[in-house]
Amino acid sequence: MSVAVTGIGELTTNDDELGELTGAALVLDGARVAWVGAEADVPAADERVDVSGRAVLPGWVDSHTHLVFAGDRTAEFGARMAGKPYTAGGIAVTVGATRAASDDELAANLRRHVAEAAAQGTTCLETKTGYGLTVADEVRSARIAGEVVDEVTFLGAHLVPPGTDADDYVALVCGEMLAAVAPYVRWADVFCETGAFDVDQSRAVLTSAAARGLGLRVHGNQLGAGPGVALAVELGAASVDHCTYLAPSDVDALAGSETVATLLPACDLSTRQPLPDARALLDAGVTVALASNCNPGSSYTSSMAYCVTTAVLQMRMTVAEAVRAATLGGARALRREAGDGAVGVLRPGARADLHVLDAPSVTHLAYRPGVPLTHAVWLAGRRAH
Ligand code: NIG
Repeated sequence: MSVAVTGIGELTTNDDELGELTGAALVLDGARVAWVGAEADVPAADERVDVSGRAVLPGWVDSHTHLVFAGDRTAEFGARMAGKPYTAGGIAVTVGATRAASDDELAANLRRHVAEAAAQGTTCLETKTGYGLTVADEVRSARIAGEVVDEVTFLGAHLVPPGTDADDYVALVCGEMLAAVAPYVRWADVFCETGAFDVDQSRAVLTSAAARGLGLRVHGNQLGAGPGVALAVELGAASVDHCTYLAPSDVDALAGSETVATLLPACDLSTRQPLPDARALLDAGVTVALASNCNPGSSYTSSMAYCVTTAVLQMRMTVAEAVRAATLGGARALRREAGDGAVGVLRPGARADLHVLDAPSVTHLAYRPGVPLTHAVWLAGRRAH
């Protein structure tokens, strides 16, 4: 079944050769994009959908979320807005609620949040374990996540469970827990931060995961300057996420690497941290991704549009840079930007993930902040919204 999408006022392809097109059309064939070009040249298709001059872009690629959870942290958020600082310790509250929830409750909560994101244009989503922190709870988190989302990351090294010896816990994560979870995940991550895991513990977790063939990601430099970015680059991680506090040497290290800097502005706002220096990263040639970090503690939003708007209005990114970071940047962070079924890009062979805005250009995402602009969404060639 092929669908010709016509009447595209502005088409963001993220493809270097196709560029940005006006008066464009594209054809979806099954789950893939089959053709992209000028509307005048559109080939015949089984169905035709005219979008009346609206802007079309690749669906958002949200490369950082924590959505296998139960429970609520509204009170913690309220206290933070009254001046209490965010600390890693709040994670333990969600761990307690997650352990107490049934598999069905966890799966339903995950599906509800993924559907909420999809209705706002997110078509590819990563999520992490990390609210289980026992072998059994991490395995079931990974298994449930793998049934729902595109990419799953093992984050057993999210917090040392209260009452547990840190060295014993790191040994568990690197050994029995990793062995049990590895079949369900593609990635491993560590929260390398004061109050979570130090650099030696983080290195142990990441090298153990790499030895099992997992790709690496790091939560780094979120609550203060630290070794997370340097460690991520040293170990060839696909991304280092947060990057809120960067030294010039961190920017230099990222610029000479393949590690994507994933910025999470909704989290920085929700935790009353400064926003990261996106300009320094972009000007140094670093690949930047934007992601929601949707989780019940530090960033309870699934809105990628909010992240894009914040990046433009408060982080001095251009609209084009922010949209690219929230689509192709996320795809690069997940190593899904190339080949058959690529995401974050609209070119023949890419996954047919389309986001149609109720606006004539992507500029409206920042020009009309807070206004819901999603008109339609196609996910792998199927109309999802
Ligand atoms: O990315 N920083 C570590 N993990 C999450 C927060 C999780 C929580 O507070 O529940 C984050 O912000």
